[in-house]
Amino acid sequence: MGTEALLYDGAMADSGRHHSHARTAQLIMRKLAATQSGPLTGRAVVPGDKSISHRALMFGALSIGETRITGLLEAADVLATARAVEMLGAEVVRDGGEWIVRGRGVGGLVSPSGPLDFGNSGTGARLMMGIVAGHPVEARFTGDSSLCRRPMGRVLRPLRQMGLSIAEGDRETLPLTLIGSGNLVPMRYVLPVPSAQVKSAVLLAGLSAPGETTVIEAEATRDHTEKMLRYLGAQITVTETAEGRAITLKGQPMLQGRPIRVPGDPSSAAFLAAAALICPGSDIVIENVLVNPTRTGFYTTLKEMGADITFEAMRDQGGEPVADIRVRHSALRGVMVPAERAPSMIDEYPMLAALAAYAEGETLMQGLAELKVKESDRLAATEAGLKANGIDAVAAGDTLTVRGTGRVRGGGLVETDMDHRIAMAFLTLGLGAASPVTVDDVTMIDTSFPNFASLMAGLGAQFAGEDLSQS
Ligand code: S3P
Repeated sequence: MGTEALLYDGAMADSGRHHSHARTAQLIMRKLAATQSGPLTGRAVVPGDKSISHRALMFGALSIGETRITGLLEAADVLATARAVEMLGAEVVRDGGEWIVRGRGVGGLVSPSGPLDFGNSGTGARLMMGIVAGHPVEARFTGDSSLCRRPMGRVLRPLRQMGLSIAEGDRETLPLTLIGSGNLVPMRYVLPVPSAQVKSAVLLAGLSAPGETTVIEAEATRDHTEKMLRYLGAQITVTETAEGRAITLKGQPMLQGRPIRVPGDPSSAAFLAAAALICPGSDIVIENVLVNPTRTGFYTTLKEMGADITFEAMRDQGGEPVADIRVRHSALRGVMVPAERAPSMIDEYPMLAALAAYAEGETLMQGLAELKVKESDRLAATEAGLKANGIDAVAAGDTLTVRGTGRVRGGGLVETDMDHRIAMAFLTLGLGAASPVTVDDVTMIDTSFPNFASLMAGLGAQFAGEDLSQS
C-alpha cells in the first residue's frame, strides 16, 4: 500500500499548498468579475455531493473493513474531514479515482496527536463532535475564522446530556477541547432547530450508547446520515409522530465497510441551472445529480417560477435517487417560497434570491432564520449584494423579498465575507447583468466547488480575472 499512501500524502500536501496559497491570496483579495454571457450549452458533471462525501469518510472510519468511495468531493472542506478521520486513527488512502477508508469500528477511534482543523466546515466539525462524544478520547476542535464564529451550542447541549465533557466549560464556539466517553447514555431529543447537522451529531453519538437514541424533527432535514448508517449495517427506524419525524437508532452496532458512490452535488448544480435560466438561448444537461427530495426544494421552486427543468433518466445509486438535470432558458415569474421548504434548499437561497431579480414580480422567501448562522450571515450578505447591483431586495426578520423586473443593472462589488456560496451566487448573477458583477474574493469557492469557474466557462460563461487558470 506504499504507493497508495504516497498518493494520498501527495493529495493532502497539494491541498495543504492550496490552503496556504488560499490564505496568502485572501490577504490580497482575489477578485473575479462575471460579464454578460451568451447561451450556455452542453453537458457538465458537477463534483460529488459535499454532505455525502463528509459522511462517507466519517462513517467509513466507524466501520470495520474497507469503505471504497468513488466520486468523493475533493474540496478543502472534505479534505479537512479526511485528515481529521486519519488523525483519529482510521487509515485513509487515495487510490486513483477512489478513496479508501480502513475503519476502526464504533468505539475504536483514538485521541489525535494534534488539533482537528475543520477549516470552513460546520458539517465536518459538528458531525465529528457526535463521533468523538462516544469515544474515550480527548480532541481539540478548531477551524477558520468563519467556523470559529458559528454556534456549536446547538450540538454541544444534547451531547453533554449524553456524557460529553468540554474542557472550556460553557463556551460554545471553537476552538474547544472535547473529552468523549466510553459510557454515553442514549437519549430522546426533539430538534429545536431544523438542522441535519444537529440530528446527525446526536445519532452518531447514539452509535456508542447502549439502547435506543431517538431524534425527532418537526421539519424533514436531509436524511443522508440515516440512509448511509443503515446501508453500513445500523438498525434505524423512522416513524411519523405528533411531534414530527422520529428517527430511532439502536446503539452499538457493528458497521461494515461497503462501497459508496457519491452522486453530483445538487447545491453545486444549482449555480449551473440558474446560469442557464439567466442566459438567453441556454440549454444544458447536468449529469448524475443527487435528487433526494430532502435536497431538491430549489428545483421545485424553479419549476413554480416557470423554469423549464426536467429530471431525466432517474435512477437509484446506492440508495440515493440520481438524475440528469436538463435546464433551458425560461422567462421566470416571482413566487412565494414557504418556510417549510427551507431545510430542503437551505444552501440555495443566495442563488434563488439572485435569480429572483431576473423574474417578473415579487419573490418572498420565508423561514430563513438559519441563513444567519451559515458560513456568513447569508441573509445580510445576500441583501447587500443584491442592493449593490441595483436590485430591490429587503430582508426583514426571517424573510427576504426580491422585486424582480427581469433585468439586472449589475456593476456592483459584492463582499463575500469568506462565504463560498455568496461568491458563486453573485458571479452567476453577473452572467446576465448589463454591467459586470465583481466578487471581492473568490478563494473560498475551493471549499466546495474547486472547478466552478472552469466548468461554467466550459458551458459558455464569461469571467474576467486571473482566476480561471486556478480552476
Ligand atoms: C448539512 C446540513 C445543512 C447545510 C450544510 C450541510 C449537512 O446545515 O447547510 O451545508 O451535510 O448535514 P444544517 O443542518 O445545520 O442546516
